[in-house]
Amino acid sequence: MKVAFFDAKPYDKPSFEKYGEAYGVRFKFFEAKLNADTAELCRGFDAVCAFVNDTVDAPVIDKLHALGVRVLALRCAGFNNVDMKYAYGKLHVLRVPAYSPYAVAEHAIALLLTSIRRIHKAYIRSKEFNFSLTGLTGFDLHGKTIGVIGTGKIGRVLIDICRGFGMKILAYDKFPVRELQRDGTVRYVDTDELFAQSDIISLHCPLTEDTYHMIDAAALEKCKKGVILINTSRGALVDAEALLNGIKSRHVGAACLDVYEEESDLFFEDNSGHIMEDDTLARLISMPNVIVTSHQAFLTEEALENIAETTVTNIVGFLKNDQCPNELCYRFDDVADCKDGKCFS
Ligand code: NAI
Repeated sequence: MKVAFFDAKPYDKPSFEKYGEAYGVRFKFFEAKLNADTAELCRGFDAVCAFVNDTVDAPVIDKLHALGVRVLALRCAGFNNVDMKYAYGKLHVLRVPAYSPYAVAEHAIALLLTSIRRIHKAYIRSKEFNFSLTGLTGFDLHGKTIGVIGTGKIGRVLIDICRGFGMKILAYDKFPVRELQRDGTVRYVDTDELFAQSDIISLHCPLTEDTYHMIDAAALEKCKKGVILINTSRGALVDAEALLNGIKSRHVGAACLDVYEEESDLFFEDNSGHIMEDDTLARLISMPNVIVTSHQAFLTEEALENIAETTVTNIVGFLKNDQCPNELCYRFDDVADCKDGKCFS
């Protein structure tokens, strides 16, 4: 089996080569991202493996279909970069629904602690033997209220961690998980109450039409002064311009961002020798109370192993048996996991 692997990075190869060898899959690693210009590279391959910033829109889907490629194996959970409606009937889309919710939740907390304890500042100071503490005053997480939007796999791990800190936990989800409230440590509320009550807000829902710019100027206005926003989910959940204005006006206390709406041409690449064209990102990064990492929350050894193993078994399962439990299916105006393991023939 030959698989074209797009947006390949050095850290992807060891685990994919290991599981590829074990299951008889040969990967051809392309550094290029998948888009209409590069889709031609898929000629002669049985399947295509793509990541979060590859573009699988109608032209790409048509091209893959014309080349006889029937399987797109996403090596991630999110699929907002795939036109699922257009893909239906043309391309089977497989994904890795979970690889390490701990990786992402722990990264969210790492960003939060870095921000509120000014570790990013202290690190640079002590490198220069500047041991002054002035300006490094933080605050305790104990007793603070965190509002968690999206209480799926990652949101729930984050909630567990926050319980350990002794925080109060509010939650909002389109589909609340009632068991979460049983011991009384989590309370589901509507977004207005979550915005009004939370000292910290962490986003863990997918990017959909419903959630696009859910944190916009109006939402920020409803938040407490000094609110800290954590986004390790998808950039477009947040209107970056509105966030920047909130930071400038001192209404937003800090932002911890692992994702950014316009990240696809920037993140995962070394842009240090280039002029930053994106003024909003440049201004956000220049702020002392904004921490940006480049979509790295997933990047742990455990997650990379799980991603490679699941992606390879998804591809092999589908190409050999025409079935995969991790196929996504666009039906009834929604995307869902394809329960019978076969979306269309
Ligand atoms: P999940 O599917 O287990 O949980 C998502 C939750 O969001 C579900 O409980 C769902 O009911 C809820 N939800 C759906 N629509 C909603 C809406 N309109 N409003 C509020 N809640 C809504 O997904 P998981 O694994 O917890 O991942 C969450 C997100 O994290 C993914 O969608 C992905 O975008 C992001 N992610 C980011 C990574 C990174 O490296 N930064 C890595 C992996 C995932």
